[in-house]
Amino acid sequence: MCGIVGYVGPQSALDVVTAGLKRLEYRGYDSAGVAVQADGQLATAKKAGKLVNLEKELADRPLPAGTTGIGHTRWATHGGPTDANAHPHIDNAGRVAVVHNGIIENFAALREELTERGHELGSETDTEVVAHLLAEEFSGCADLAEAMRLVCRRLEGAFTLVAVHADEPDVVVGARRNSPLVVGVGEGEAFLASDVAAFIAHTREAVELGQDQVVELRRDRVTVTDFDGGTADVRAYHVDWDASAAEKGGYDYFMLKEIAEQPKAVADTLLGRIDAAGSLTLDEVRIPANVLREVDKIVIVACGTAFHAGLIAKYAIEHWTRVPCEVELASEFRYRDPILDQQTLVVAISQSGETMDTLMALRHAREQGAKVLAICNTNGSTIPRESDAVLYTHAGPEVAVASTKAFLTQLVACYLVALYLGQVRGTKWADEIRAVVRDLSSVSGAVERVLETMEPVRELARSLAEKNTVLFLGRHVGYPVALEGALKLKELAYMHAEGFAAGELKHGPIALVEDDMPVVVVVPSPRGRSVLHDKIVSNIQEIRARGARTIVIAEEGDEAVVPYADHLIRIPATPTLLQPLVATVPLQVFACELATARGNEVDQPRNLAKSVTVE
Ligand code: F6R
Repeated sequence: MCGIVGYVGPQSALDVVTAGLKRLEYRGYDSAGVAVQADGQLATAKKAGKLVNLEKELADRPLPAGTTGIGHTRWATHGGPTDANAHPHIDNAGRVAVVHNGIIENFAALREELTERGHELGSETDTEVVAHLLAEEFSGCADLAEAMRLVCRRLEGAFTLVAVHADEPDVVVGARRNSPLVVGVGEGEAFLASDVAAFIAHTREAVELGQDQVVELRRDRVTVTDFDGGTADVRAYHVDWDASAAEKGGYDYFMLKEIAEQPKAVADTLLGRIDAAGSLTLDEVRIPANVLREVDKIVIVACGTAFHAGLIAKYAIEHWTRVPCEVELASEFRYRDPILDQQTLVVAISQSGETMDTLMALRHAREQGAKVLAICNTNGSTIPRESDAVLYTHAGPEVAVASTKAFLTQLVACYLVALYLGQVRGTKWADEIRAVVRDLSSVSGAVERVLETMEPVRELARSLAEKNTVLFLGRHVGYPVALEGALKLKELAYMHAEGFAAGELKHGPIALVEDDMPVVVVVPSPRGRSVLHDKIVSNIQEIRARGARTIVIAEEGDEAVVPYADHLIRIPATPTLLQPLVATVPLQVFACELATARGNEVDQPRNLAKSVTVE
């Protein structure tokens, strides 16, 4: 939430910063602003609404040219999305400018203190106090990094801060506690950003900042300390994707591009993890085999779409390892005093690696002695850093706010973890593992085939643009798929959409069914557990008898559903546990098209932000 950028080097800071903000707009789009150091002064511009409003403002009222600057795109927490609340915030003399991501929990007390000392604060934000505190500290030490350290020691909560001072040319200072901040190191230039996407067009060399660190950027060096000024450990890394991965690449929306990238993303998640003999080699899982053998409970924590991946993983984990598995919303986890010990394995799933609820859940788990394995897409992010081990999903950057390829790759990673546990604990034979691995390897092609047949789904979505409610039903692993389908529709089409376990319908929700109400049903394979299949066919008949318009997602060759499907969406035959990998894809396309038909912003749905860095 909130995207921040800082730059020092030979280029126009305004150009670099605004281009960076464009790449970070997925993190929030309530307002945007920039500050540039020029001729011993600071010049700022900020505007409520999307970045395009700021760009218009800059075209009408250009800022003086400078080569050091900062910028911000906001997801509002404290104070509405107004010009006054937009970042950067400055002190009364206009000498220091600061941008912030996170929440400063003790800002009210600090604000009162500053007001008593004669400062005038003009916004409703928690951030503005930092500009005033930095100005005070700078007047004592004339060193922005030192001023930042002194201020950070007084702040409570989660914050990434980036600041410039008119009296310290060619210097940008950042600080990080609990919110993301990465350094980009170029030739004679340096960058700071919430995400490497902001500077990937300039450099792929990055430095990951740790917790409670302050970084000072100059053209020729980057200095990192802890909040007390002591030397800090940092990790340098090379970003393994380039600027084109963060572009729309000819698609109208990032979401469409990311849906289309799923076959490759799924294949990339498997890459290098299966040896020639078909066994799993998860070298990154640094938790020793003997520890994994002792695990007597698995708890998955995640939010939103990642939580749905966890719900599906439970079926695979319990089936393949016979270890009990709980799945919990990360935001609820630590508040219910969960039972955890050294024999508990906690799996934290997060695309961004920055979701605060998930981070807090994993910290709680580790405090209780549990081992934490992260499944994550973002190299260098906080969740994998703070976990005992990580399995990266290698989906590439996901820019659209609604998660698509991250979900499919999280599923693949979960299946790999479940199989690996089965391998290590001896609950799966090598040939059984090889068989599942073969099935997993063919999923990429199956997803490709689904994508080729989506035109009728798009047409159907357009025809439903005027509807108010869509229900989604599933059983077994199809139930979380139904939840995911409903979530996608809510967040993109702003429609009432709910997912139910099909068997639960008659215990209440069936009362919602009205004449011509669209109900999407995810049908399990008729092969294997055919009892599940038969039961859901009965459920389809029950809702149809009450007037529902049935939209049935069923395997190729499943003829039993044909008489009861008003619309039939075919997916390739897949083993039951893996079916979510193909069944979810039409639901993503459906939501995307419905949102477009309703005139909504697909990549930036209202009120949302991609990386939720506040609790
Ligand atoms: C929905 C969506 C969110 C995220 C959730 C967790 O499309 O994107 O529900 O899945 O905010 O985010 P991560 O995976 O970054 O922890």
